[in-house]
Order: sequence, then C-alpha cells, then structure tokens
Amino acid sequence: MKIDILTLFPEMFDGVLSASILGRAQASGILSIETHDIRAYADNKHKKTDDYPFGGGAGLVMMAQPIFDCMAAVCGDEQPHRILLTPRGKLLTSERAKELSKLDRIVLLCGHYEGVDERVNTLIDEEISIGDYVLTGGELPAMVLVDCLSRFIPGVLGSEESAEDESHANGLLEYPQYTRPASFRGLDVPEILLNGHHANIAKWRHEQAMEKTREMRPCLLGNFGRVDRAYTKK
Ligand SMILES: C[S@@+](CC[C@H](N)C(=O)[O-])C[C@H]1O[C@@H](n2cnc3c(N)ncnc32)[C@H](O)[C@@H]1O
Repeated sequence: MKIDILTLFPEMFDGVLSASILGRAQASGILSIETHDIRAYADNKHKKTDDYPFGGGAGLVMMAQPIFDCMAAVCGDEQPHRILLTPRGKLLTSERAKELSKLDRIVLLCGHYEGVDERVNTLIDEEISIGDYVLTGGELPAMVLVDCLSRFIPGVLGSEESAEDESHANGLLEYPQYTRPASFRGLDVPEILLNGHHANIAKWRHEQAMEKTREMRPCLLGNFGRVDRAYTKK
C-alpha cells in the first residue's frame, strides 16, 4: 500500500514512521509512506500557507492554493482515496481502518491552525476524526490512522502478532494477558491459564472480556452477538 501525507510539518513524522513495526513494513516493501511539505507549493513570495478567516474570528485558516497544487502534484493521473483528518469527520473505528487497509493507495491531508479553507473539501473523498476532542494539527491523527490501518495489511504484523485477537476486533475489549513469571511479588497469574486446557482458557477469556467491556465501555455490548459467534468458531 502507498500512503502519501500532505502536511506543513513533515518532520513530525520521522521517528514514528521509521521505528518498530511501521519501519519494518516499509523496509520490506509492504508499505510505502511519503510525506509532502504543503509549504513547498505556496505560489507567493514568502511561502505563506495561511491567512485570516473571512468574516472574522480567532486564528488562521490554511489557504486553498498550496493544498490544491500539492494534492495535484502528489496524485498525478491517479485517483487515490483522499482523506482529510478533521474533528468534524466520522469517528475512526477498527472496522473502517480494516476497510481502508485494502486500498492500494490513500492520501492523507493534515490540517493545522484553525483548519483548512472549506473549498479544499472539493478534493476530499472522506473526512476522519480520531476522537471527540481537538488537537493542534492533523499530524498526530494521520499517524494514528496509518498505524491503525497498517496492522490489517497482510505481512505487517509478524506471525506471532494478530490484529484479529485484540480489543475492538470482535466488539469487546480484550481479556487480561500475563507473561512469565507465573508469580511476581506476590501477584499470581490465574491458575486456569497455567493448566493448558484450551477450551477452559477460551471460556475464561470470553468471560473476562465481557466483564471488562461491561465495566469500561458498556455501550459496546451491543456487539455481543458478533463476538459470541467469533468465539464459538474457535
Ligand atoms: C485546531 S484543529 C482545527 C479545529 C477546527 N477549527 C474545528 O473546530 O473543527 C487543527 C487541525 O487539527 C486536526 N485535528 C484536530 N483534532 C482532530 C481530531 N480529533 N481528529 C482528526 N483531526 C484533528 C485537523 O486536521 C484540523 O484541521
């Protein structure tokens, strides 16, 4: 998959995209991520990319021209799926990230300051928000989206890791996980996980997932039927 990111702050992406699983996915050629500096496309003398909002109000709005020209240069003759990160967008879910992971190419546009000139929306196929709060820019949301959807691309996670057995994958939060040692400073791993009885372990994990979801996010329990089917398949 090819991901292009249009931003005023490409340097913000360096560490996040080159480290760990995303770095490995790019090195192996499964994923190609490129950032593009919107400022380089500003056609005015001072490379200005923002201006005061018509009608008044606080802050600055990102101008249409640099974004239109940057988008045109990045897309060329292709028609990739173009996403604007914005708190006005639809909330990102695991399900949507999984669908997006099947596309060959996407372009992400990061707003900053008070956001982008509304006319930029004529270039956009989808608006995505990562949560009901406001950040200073779309760079962190873009990183969240890239990280989240990449986990669903075959080969990005190692064979020992799975995107299917996690919180939200089946509509519930994940059950508790433990690793060695079995006893740590008086805190013991539940006995059931140590006896190797797979059916009992699966049943215990399901019950724990239900309990955790009921405690932390009861509204998710509407997906209970889907989860039940996922567990009985095993
Ligand atoms: C300060 S915000 C602008 C908020 C805008 N004035 C509003 O009220 O909707 C600047 C930029 O950060 C990004 N951003 C902030 N919060 C976000 C969120 N929850 N999800 C996705 N993008 C967000 C967007 O790209 C946005 O254009």
